[in-house]
Amino acid sequence: MRFHEYFLVVRGCVELGKVLVTAAWPYINHVPHLGNLLPILSADVIARYYRLKGEEVVFVSGSDEHGTPIEIEAIRQNISPRELTDRNHKIVSELFRKWAISFDNYTRTESPVHKDFVKEVFLKIERNGYIFTKEDELPYCQKCNRFLPDRFVEGKCPYCGYERARGDQCEQCGRLLEPTRLIDSRCAICGSTPIVKTVKHWYFDMPRFTDKLLAYIEGNRQLPDNARNFSINLLKEGLKPRPITRDNRWGIPAPFSGAEGKTIYVWFDAVLGYVSATIEYFKRLGKEDGWKEYWFNKDTKTLYFIGKDNIPFHTLIFPALLMATHEDYNLPWNVCTNEWLIFGGQKSSKSRRIGVWIDEALEMFPVDYWRYTLIAIRPETKDSDFTWKIFIEKVNSELNDTLGNFIHRALKFINVYFNSSIPEPKDLDDLDRKVLDAIKEKVKSIDDALSSFQLQMALREAVDLSRIGNRYLNEKRPWEAIKTNPQAAANTLYVSAQIVKALSIVLDPFIPISAQKMRSMLNIQGAVLWDDACKPLPPGHKISEAEPLFSKIEGSEEDLQNMLDKIRSMEEKISIEDFSRINMRVGRIVRAEEIPKSQNLLKLTIDVGGTLKTAVAGIAKYYRCEELEGKYVVVVTNLEPKKIFGIESEVMILAAEDGRSVALVVPDKPISVGSRVR
Ligand code: MF3
Ligand code: ZN
Repeated sequence: MRFHEYFLVVRGCVELGKVLVTAAWPYINHVPHLGNLLPILSADVIARYYRLKGEEVVFVSGSDEHGTPIEIEAIRQNISPRELTDRNHKIVSELFRKWAISFDNYTRTESPVHKDFVKEVFLKIERNGYIFTKEDELPYCQKCNRFLPDRFVEGKCPYCGYERARGDQCEQCGRLLEPTRLIDSRCAICGSTPIVKTVKHWYFDMPRFTDKLLAYIEGNRQLPDNARNFSINLLKEGLKPRPITRDNRWGIPAPFSGAEGKTIYVWFDAVLGYVSATIEYFKRLGKEDGWKEYWFNKDTKTLYFIGKDNIPFHTLIFPALLMATHEDYNLPWNVCTNEWLIFGGQKSSKSRRIGVWIDEALEMFPVDYWRYTLIAIRPETKDSDFTWKIFIEKVNSELNDTLGNFIHRALKFINVYFNSSIPEPKDLDDLDRKVLDAIKEKVKSIDDALSSFQLQMALREAVDLSRIGNRYLNEKRPWEAIKTNPQAAANTLYVSAQIVKALSIVLDPFIPISAQKMRSMLNIQGAVLWDDACKPLPPGHKISEAEPLFSKIEGSEEDLQNMLDKIRSMEEKISIEDFSRINMRVGRIVRAEEIPKSQNLLKLTIDVGGTLKTAVAGIAKYYRCEELEGKYVVVVTNLEPKKIFGIESEVMILAAEDGRSVALVVPDKPISVGSRVR
């Protein structure tokens, strides 16, 4: 062991490390799609991993509320930018909670702490002499009567020729642009050709940081190749001063004297959010100075998860801003960049119905199915394609048949053969011992993969551990051994329980809801740490009843696409005329009967005003037949009849469901049977 390794080991025991985990702040002009979620989900996996490792983690991000993407969407919806971001921030924060993203602070760029911090930083940088003003010619739309910064102007990229480059960046080649260099530019709102107008702006003197940035990037061994090579290229091509101010009303007011009425360019505001979100987090905890440990202590690791178009803002602009404060901030320790997630070979596009959005995804399947698949196909070194075929395959053959099946078999055998208590091992044979060793090896390789941010590989190794378990069970056949050699069966299930335990910990970063279920089936209470993965469950430990963790997706790729289209069409407006074509009546349930062999269906005979109609309704889990008879309900009477369980269902009754329960919709005071419902 060399000295510094020894030192690390010792230090690891005495002092907790600090890790700041961050994910790119999503523009809050709309709900993110799965591709937008990738950096956030990846950051969550790593934040959960470091917490398990016992590190002190702070995980922050927030809604990126300013800038032209927001303004353009607000104009489209004819509301104010603030109305738009208030609404979306609320929706998206709630969605991240449902995706089990374990933020310590998910804030927003309109937060007062953030706005004050941004002002303070720019005044400091100005005092330090890195800001100058310049008159420049900028595109101006005479029809809209406004300057066209950033996404307000589109045109052809002067470097790569991409047709829809924006004023500040080309999405295709990732280069930073000047708006007047776009070829054949047009106004993004009205499409007309802009003129140029001279206007004064405040500039950040980036080129003065060229050498320091180069040294930082070349000296940072963590940086993945894509981020490193791209940044070095930009430095070699030569940095240009970047304008910090904009003639937009929406944004953080520029604090420079003489800059009244101007705002800060969205990127110069948003990247500082990483710091301000940490400040805000500790303020809330009542530890005003707590943030400094994360931003100035050189032992702290700072991690940034982003999509590849964000590279120059994180490896050049943000570090340069931090350097310009002269305050010795920690520069990004690692910038983990993902490539693009595409859908059937194409880019996500709401208007062309390509892609899946994070709200619809959760209406289709449980969150862990998505988390699993997204990490399993995470585009780490090249773009990766999401198809329903891949999704079905991942859920059915990996999650369900491999992982879920192993866990369920192992625990069920313990429930049945050993009265739910972990059996006592005795005289383990070679294979038993080999499998116990394999647990340690796999846990180590998952650990190594996660600590080098190879999320996909870590997940693959974890599933591989359950594959080892399945093979082991198949070889040992405890269901036969229990009759002929009960001690052999006891050994097998002792070993299998240890695999399940290890899985319930190493899978926690990826599929936290299911991992928690695994631990509750194993009856492991309270918080766990990574090191617990290899600590055996003792013989005699009582486990709970095994239940299936996942279920198979029954249905074809086409079925899933139809399911998604159906969810989407529920968001679409229908006309009052369309609605009035639905014939709804008050009905009275005359008879309710169970349908043999079905679990949740009841056959209802309903008086809808003179005639009796049959409905087959999925409410048996929620209502007993007796309590239904005589009830007034709302019935849709003009649906095409459909055979369900061999019974022709002629009408449908209205009911509300929230995932836990079902409640019938009933008239709130007596009214005659057959009354029209409008
Ligand atoms: N809103 C940007 C995007 O979606 C990312 C901003 S990252 C930040 O591309 F750090 F600047 F916030
Ligand atoms: Zn215009």
